[in-house]
Amino acid sequence: MSDRYLSFVNSLWGRRLAQAVGLPQPLPLQRHRSGQPGLANPVIVAGAGRLTEHVHRLFSSTDTVAATAATVKAPSTVKVQGAVFDATHVADLQHLDELYTFFHANARRLGQHARVVVLGTAPEHCQDLPQAVAQRALEGLVRSLAKELRRAITVQLIYVAPGAEDALDSSLRFFLSRRSAYVSGQVIRLQKPVDSHITLHWDKPFAGRRALVTGASRGIGLAIAQVLARDGAHVVCVDVPQAQSALQQAADSVDGSALPLDITAPDAAALLQAHVSQYGAFDVVVHNAGITRDKTIAKMTETAWRSVLAVNLEAPLQLSQALLDNHGLNPGGRIVCVSSISGIAGNLGQSNYATSKAGVIGLVQGLAPRAAAQQVTVNAVAPGFIETQMTAKVPLLIREAGRRMNSLLQGGQPVDVAETIAWLAHPASGGVNSQVVRVCGQSLLGA
Ligand SMILES: NC(=O)c1ccc[n+]([C@@H]2O[C@H](COP(=O)([O-])OP(=O)(O)OC[C@H]3O[C@@H](n4cnc5c(N)ncnc54)[C@H](O)[C@@H]3O)[C@@H](O)[C@H]2O)c1
Repeated sequence: MSDRYLSFVNSLWGRRLAQAVGLPQPLPLQRHRSGQPGLANPVIVAGAGRLTEHVHRLFSSTDTVAATAATVKAPSTVKVQGAVFDATHVADLQHLDELYTFFHANARRLGQHARVVVLGTAPEHCQDLPQAVAQRALEGLVRSLAKELRRAITVQLIYVAPGAEDALDSSLRFFLSRRSAYVSGQVIRLQKPVDSHITLHWDKPFAGRRALVTGASRGIGLAIAQVLARDGAHVVCVDVPQAQSALQQAADSVDGSALPLDITAPDAAALLQAHVSQYGAFDVVVHNAGITRDKTIAKMTETAWRSVLAVNLEAPLQLSQALLDNHGLNPGGRIVCVSSISGIAGNLGQSNYATSKAGVIGLVQGLAPRAAAQQVTVNAVAPGFIETQMTAKVPLLIREAGRRMNSLLQGGQPVDVAETIAWLAHPASGGVNSQVVRVCGQSLLGA
C-alpha cells in the first residue's frame, strides 16, 4: 500500500507546509539495490576495545574506505555515512564519557541515512560490577540516539561475547548497509557460532542452499522468497492449497518450487518430511505464514482464537520439532520465525494474535539451545507496521497512527523484513542465536 503522506511531505509544497505547521517529516528510506556497494562509506571507526582491529579488517577487505578517527573532539563539516564505536573496553562509568565526547562531536557529521553501530560486551560476560553497569548503560544511549538523530539514521548495539569476535562480520555488514533501513534501536547478542561455517560469498551467500518459506505467495513471505533467491537460494514456497495459482506464480518468479500445504493440516509434518526425503534437507526454514482474526476477547469466537494460535504458533512449533527430529535441517541450518511487536507489547483487539506471537518468542528461546546441538540457529524477527494486505485491512486512523508512531515516522516494506531474515539466515550468522530482532523503525509500541 502506498503512503500518500510520505510522498506529500517530500514534495516541494508538502515540505513547506509540514515545516510551517510542524507536521512530522519522514524521509523516504534508501534500501539496498543489487549492484550497489554493500557497506556505508565513509565510516568513522572509534573506540578502543578488542574489536577495533576486527572492524578495520572488515573495511580493508572491501573497496569501501573507512574514515578512521579516534575519539574526535572538534566537529568537522565532512559528512560520513556511518560510525562504529567499539565500546567493549568500557570498564566503568568514567569510560562512558568517551561515548558522550564522540557522539557530541560527531552527531552532526552523520549524513542522512547513516548507520551507527556501538559494540559492547554483554553485562552477563563482564568481570565485575562497574563494567557490567557501564555496559548495560550503553542500551540507553543507543536507544536514545536512535530516537534523536532522525534523518533516517539508524543506531544499534551489538554485544559481542568473548570468543565470538569472528562471528561479527555478517552482523556488521547488515547493520552498516541499506539492507537494515527499517531496523533501529536494536540490541543484539552475538555468541560463539553454533557451526564452523566461514563464507566468502558475500554476494550469493545462499548459493547451493535450499530454503523453505511458508506463506510465500504474497506480502512479506513473497519478499522473503525473493531476497533469499536473489542471494542464491533455491526457495521452496509454501502456501495453502487455495492460493495455488498465486503460489505457483511466486515460485516461478524466484525460480523456486511450489509446495501447496496447509501448515495446520494434521499430516503437514509428514508431508514436509516426505518432501525432505525426496529432495533433501533444508538449510533455511522461515516460518512466515500468519493470520489475524482481531476482536476484543469478549467478542472473540473460539474459532478465531484457535485458528490464530494454530497457524501462527502451533504449526511453527510442530514443523520445527519434526524437522529437527528427522534431520530435515542440515548442519549450519537456520530457523527464522516471524513474531510481531504485538507479541512484545500486546495490542487491543489482538489477544489471540499477541498470544501466538509472544509464544513464537518462547519457541525461539526454548528451541535455540536444543537446535544449537545440531548446529542450527533459531531466531525471530518482530515486524512493526509493514505495508501489506494484512495492514491494508486496518481502519484508516489506526493505520495512520501505526505508520507514524516510530522513530522513522513511516511503515516498513516487506523487503525490510526479508533483508533482516536474510541476515539471520546467513551462513556466517551462526553466532546470532535465540535473538528476537524488531523490524519496526523503533516503534513506540513495546519499546
Ligand atoms: N504486515 C505487518 O505489518 C506484520 C506485522 C507484524 C507481523 N507480521 C507477520 O508477518 C507474516 C506475514 O504477514 P503478511 O502481512 O505478509 O500477511 P499476508 O496475509 O499478506 O500473508 C500471509 C500468507 O500466509 C498464508 N497462510 C495463512 N495460513 C496458512 C496456512 N495454514 N498454511 C500455509 N500458509 C498460510 C496466506 O495464504 C498468505 O499468503 C505473518 O506471520 C504476520 O503475522 C506482519
